[in-house]
Amino acid sequence: MQKIYTGKTKDVFSLENGNVLLKFKDDCTGKDGKFDPGENSVGLTIEGIGKANLKTSVYYFELLKKAGVKTHYVSADIDNATMEVLAAKVFGHGLEVICRLVATGSFIRRYGDYIKDGTKLEGGYVETTFKDDAKGDPLVTKDALIALGVMSGEMYDSMKEQTLKITKVVADDLAKKGMQLYDIKFEFGYDKDGNVILIDEIASGNMRVYKDGKIVDPMDLTKLILA
Ligand SMILES: Nc1ncnc2c1ncn2[C@@H]1O[C@H](COP(=O)(O)OP(=O)(O)O)[C@@H](O)[C@H]1O
Ligand SMILES: [Mg+2]
Repeated sequence: MQKIYTGKTKDVFSLENGNVLLKFKDDCTGKDGKFDPGENSVGLTIEGIGKANLKTSVYYFELLKKAGVKTHYVSADIDNATMEVLAAKVFGHGLEVICRLVATGSFIRRYGDYIKDGTKLEGGYVETTFKDDAKGDPLVTKDALIALGVMSGEMYDSMKEQTLKITKVVADDLAKKGMQLYDIKFEFGYDKDGNVILIDEIASGNMRVYKDGKIVDPMDLTKLILA
């Protein structure tokens, strides 16, 4: 087993069968000792959060499998906090895909002159950002991704279609639990045949969720999802 990447919250190993092993750590992103999934640097360690995020990811990857959505997920070993996944190439130096169901946060900071905070975005709004901590994860358009040779238009369309479908699966699950999904962030990659698939994790830190009109913090959200 060879370590191929040391991430902020996970270590990545290559396996002899060609798959990849993600080891979920207890390190989390944050600032001044306070957990903040939106931060881009590791700020603290929370005992057990690695396993909790793995469990949440497994829960949603299994749900997606049932819904007929293929992802990178193969299997998990909760005790060791590891998940075996299909090896994927990331787009460029890493791409994040955000799906918004309600306008808030950075969307309002950008477009607040045109839309009120809390407005529903019918059908879901998809946008993409480059993973680039130094540049604050800049927005990137479909045309830019094609012009930069990061992906083809067909790949983008597949990614967007999957994003909307996956978001609906998660939103419906949260709705059953009495919660409302506002927005969610994913990572996609592609396999050796060029098929675009969902990679990485689906954990409470990747989504903004409300319950009874109040935002649910990621630690409570994990408990509510897994309850
Ligand atoms: N199936 C996969 N194949 C290859 N790389 C993956 C796969 N799933 C996730 N990754 C990558 O593994 C890393 C996970 O570690 P993480 O700590 O989240 O990293 P980061 O600090 O880059 O967010 C990410 O860089 C992610 O892009
Ligand atoms: Mg990450």
